[in-house]
Amino acid sequence: MKGKKLLAVLAATAMSVALIAGCGSEREGATTGAQETETTAAVAAAEETADTAEAAPAESAGFEDGATIGVSLPWLGTQNWKEAETMFKEQLEAAGYNPIIQAADQKVPQQQQQIESMIENGAKVIVVGPIDGTQLGAVLEQAKDAGIYVIGYDRLLENTTGVDGVVQFGSVKTGELQAQALLDGLAKEKGEGPYNIELFGGGPADPNAPNFFKGAMSVLQPKIDDGTLTVVSGQVDFTQCATADWDNSKAQARMDSLLSGFYSDKEIHGVLSPNDGIARAIITSCENAGQDIPVVSGLDAENESVEWVWSGRQYSTVAKPTDALVAKTVEIINSLKDGNGMPATDVTADNGVMEVPIYELPPVVVTKDNAKEVFANDPSRMELLK
Ligand code: BGC
Repeated sequence: MKGKKLLAVLAATAMSVALIAGCGSEREGATTGAQETETTAAVAAAEETADTAEAAPAESAGFEDGATIGVSLPWLGTQNWKEAETMFKEQLEAAGYNPIIQAADQKVPQQQQQIESMIENGAKVIVVGPIDGTQLGAVLEQAKDAGIYVIGYDRLLENTTGVDGVVQFGSVKTGELQAQALLDGLAKEKGEGPYNIELFGGGPADPNAPNFFKGAMSVLQPKIDDGTLTVVSGQVDFTQCATADWDNSKAQARMDSLLSGFYSDKEIHGVLSPNDGIARAIITSCENAGQDIPVVSGLDAENESVEWVWSGRQYSTVAKPTDALVAKTVEIINSLKDGNGMPATDVTADNGVMEVPIYELPPVVVTKDNAKEVFANDPSRMELLK
């Protein structure tokens, strides 16, 4: 190896190590394939540059300022997705890109068409929050074949090689937090056990929903087994508890029928809810049935639920700040634009056909006790705590 080339390789290795140190995810861990690829690519790029003084290899060639970036969202039915629509526009424009942002109203063919049109419109990166994690394989592979980067947003992209990485809040961890809050709330507000509870899951097509449920059950199952918790309906499988399309009215109808079928002579003490909209539907159903409000978990820190947590009507929610997740995504897009490829991460998820690099942020549980701390830097939510 010539001196000049050796220097370039050493510099690239140092840069790459700095990149890994700076961009690593929250979790510590062993070097993964993703990191090795990153390092090898950087070294190869330096060798190439040193030998030929040419640009980096095609796969990390970068793209121009002002490039078109597609963002495909599943629907705008919960506050987090509405925030994502606004914040992607603001943050991508501020970074000098030309965003195309579309939401698909829970209709898979509509989402497929929207992604196709982003490909036709010359997007350099397409960010996708899938309605159904398994139904976009073909169109995402088409995007990859066209040299477009594909980043999953908030939800995993399953059964496809058409994905470069996914940014999300830990989904199993979210479920663990929801269940632990339910247990804590029961001990705090409902006296000594045993406690009567019911379980709700999110939309079965959404890859997050079974993970939330799995995380929650890892905490709740031992307490069901030791008799602290009784699921009075006996409905404990995800398929029995899921809420099609995350539809609040379907959750409310299920809660109504659970209450009339199993609780005419019993008190309900707690309910596992996968998000805030469903939590409010469950609470409303219990109020309508003349029950004392049970301890109910949630997710998203939606404004209305932050108010309910503050007034004691909903016990907990989980904050997964959209601005931070969008910022993480834009940071990755900048890395791609600059020709640095996908940043290193030590977390991956099996999507059925490949290990997908995951860029994970930590969800945070919120109760009345810590709400002011959690939202200290969020003036609009702080306003609700009055
Ligand atoms: C998101 C939640 C959201 C739910 C319904 C999930 O994938 O992680 O934030 O409440 O979808 O839109």
